[in-house]
Amino acid sequence: MAITFNEEKKIFKLDTRDSTYAILIYRENYLVHLYYGAKLPDDNLTGLMYRGRFDSLSPYNPKVEDPLFSPDINPMEYSTNGAGDFRISALSVRGEAGNTVTDIRYVSHRIFSGKPGLSGLPAAFASEEEAQTLEVETVDAVTGVKVFLLYTVFEDLGVMTRSVRVENGGKSPVELTRVYSACVDLPRMDYDMVHLYGRWNKENSLNRHPLMHGIQSIRSKRGMTGANHNPFVALAAPGCTEETGEAFGFHLVYSGNFAIDIECDTREFSRLLIGINPEDFRWRLEPGEVFTSPEAVMVYSSQGLGGMSRTLHKFYPAHLMRSEWAHKKRPLLINSWEAAYFDFDDDKLVEFAQKAKELGIEMLVMDDGWFGNRCDDHRALGDWYVNEKKLKGGLSNLIQRVNDLGIKFGIWYEPEMINPDSDLYRAHPDWAIRAPGREHSISRYQCVLDMTRKEVRDNIFEQMYKVISQNHIDYIKWDCNRHITEAASAALPPERQGEFFHRYVLGVYDLMDRITTAFPHILLENCSSGGGRFDPGMLYYSPQIWASDNTDPIERLSIQFGASLCYPVSAMGAHVSASPRTGLKTKGAVAMCGTFGYELDPRKMTEEEKDQVRGQAADYHRYYDLIRKGDFYRLVSPAENSFHCEWEFVSEDQSEVLFTSVIMRQPEHNFYIQRLRGLDPDRYYRDEDTGEVYSGALLMNAGINLSGDGWPREDGDSLTKHFVAV
Ligand code: DGJ
Repeated sequence: MAITFNEEKKIFKLDTRDSTYAILIYRENYLVHLYYGAKLPDDNLTGLMYRGRFDSLSPYNPKVEDPLFSPDINPMEYSTNGAGDFRISALSVRGEAGNTVTDIRYVSHRIFSGKPGLSGLPAAFASEEEAQTLEVETVDAVTGVKVFLLYTVFEDLGVMTRSVRVENGGKSPVELTRVYSACVDLPRMDYDMVHLYGRWNKENSLNRHPLMHGIQSIRSKRGMTGANHNPFVALAAPGCTEETGEAFGFHLVYSGNFAIDIECDTREFSRLLIGINPEDFRWRLEPGEVFTSPEAVMVYSSQGLGGMSRTLHKFYPAHLMRSEWAHKKRPLLINSWEAAYFDFDDDKLVEFAQKAKELGIEMLVMDDGWFGNRCDDHRALGDWYVNEKKLKGGLSNLIQRVNDLGIKFGIWYEPEMINPDSDLYRAHPDWAIRAPGREHSISRYQCVLDMTRKEVRDNIFEQMYKVISQNHIDYIKWDCNRHITEAASAALPPERQGEFFHRYVLGVYDLMDRITTAFPHILLENCSSGGGRFDPGMLYYSPQIWASDNTDPIERLSIQFGASLCYPVSAMGAHVSASPRTGLKTKGAVAMCGTFGYELDPRKMTEEEKDQVRGQAADYHRYYDLIRKGDFYRLVSPAENSFHCEWEFVSEDQSEVLFTSVIMRQPEHNFYIQRLRGLDPDRYYRDEDTGEVYSGALLMNAGINLSGDGWPREDGDSLTKHFVAV
């Protein structure tokens, strides 16, 4: 049993294959957090609740009759505001009386097989055999607000998910001013905080730094996730390396304003909160109404950051990506954007498809520019009807010509946006988000549609449905190229304007749900000016997300390595483009560490380049399963080494290894050995190029000598090696 409740000791234990999480119901029904970390066989955990003597300023509840218990010092399971705990709080409710004192106590619990979905939100899923769930009911006695804490344990994968449901069980409306998805109190602060930051064209830079006293946080208030911070934090214990030591990962399944806050107090404890950003958030709950928080994913690893990443790489395809394409082989595609931008017509696209066919490519994606009067990025977003001046003969005719070549067809949309120069805006100017009395800011010449409004979503759905249902479309790229300003909805009363940002995200999820439900066989790829909305919420709907508009292969190394901290390689949209640095070989090797595809004009290739691309297309099929199902090892990260970057994929049965090395710039030394990881030391592996056979022990302990003849030496050069067990 993954979840047990010890009646006598009043302790919940949530065990995965290698971790334990424990909660105590203490006197006066306080829920106290006991432990999160490596698996423990013990039942006798009550002593873990104590965190030292408190001083004369520590508030306490006299009814508890424990001189060592203060809500401000002991680890609390789900911290609340204003009732004795001065640290950052996960929950704050403004009641009828106007104050925000919030104090929840245990009422009941149930443990059941499987995992419930979350109303209107993306969430992990599991069969009754794969997971077990604990639901703890608590109540705030004064407001009558019931708070249900949900924990699902994926025992075999070492993963837990958490969320919170708040029900107004009182007689008056209340206002939620913060509702985090999870709170974790850890008894130390000597962790490194590891997270991903960036900007447009430079996403997912790895940042690792020690926690400090005080509050540190990463947040978004853009309405979307944004490229600036990913909603993920790892806490790496002292000595945690890529492959050894303890790491905790916390990831939010959400695509809007998020916050991951960590407070380290003077006692050197740390509290982590993960959930919706409380800034600009207020939610009114009428009696009987329910609010559901997004889901947080938590993983504990005793095998360093690499072990943590590999767990998430397995978890998301199995339990979060609901698309059939999570497990189906995806077609090798070419995208028109960097090849043509807005300058295309039907004949040019058919030429692309003809040339692509000769190269072994399987799908053509028509990017931005096919609809309304869209001749540049100044106009027509919102007008989702085919521009027949560009696509002469219409879309069906174009797709037929492409399909006749044996090539599938994909299309681009930016459903949440509207240009002031569009028919949609002229008909419904009030559908663009703007606060009363204020002009809306412009970004990339466009505004954001008010997705909180059903009639807006219905209009966009109907426009999309018409085009998609009347045409043979295999793939959709869902783009999103600006963030929200002057946030307000004409459809919400003043007392509900604080709900705007979350309602926007719920609206996007609703539209994405309707499209993917209506067209379940279409492969959906998300995108937001590159990787600006690369988050687990999006993965629920689309098994792949365009990782960056930066297609330079050397820059891509750090972008994709960074993303691999918490996302599987199968999710990272990566294409070979015409970018000037490096040859096709390295571009192919880097894109192969992603979904793999092309984004260049296939008419402009030399015969030699075409041969190379045919070889890459063959490799795409040859290594498809190894890359998507194998274990990914970051051997040398561009965040740590500016000369070279190395990685490998090892098949689950350890019978195959694909190793890649890229020279980013010349090292001072010219002798270099790389040791592989994850092989079976007792087996022998044949180098598929040379036929030489080496033991797994040799490859892992002595390593590959990267200094010999034929090994890469020049800037931008690379090498890929395939070893197969004999
Ligand atoms: C931003 C995306 O990241 C690009 O790939 C491309 O689709 C453009 N938008 C089109 O406007």
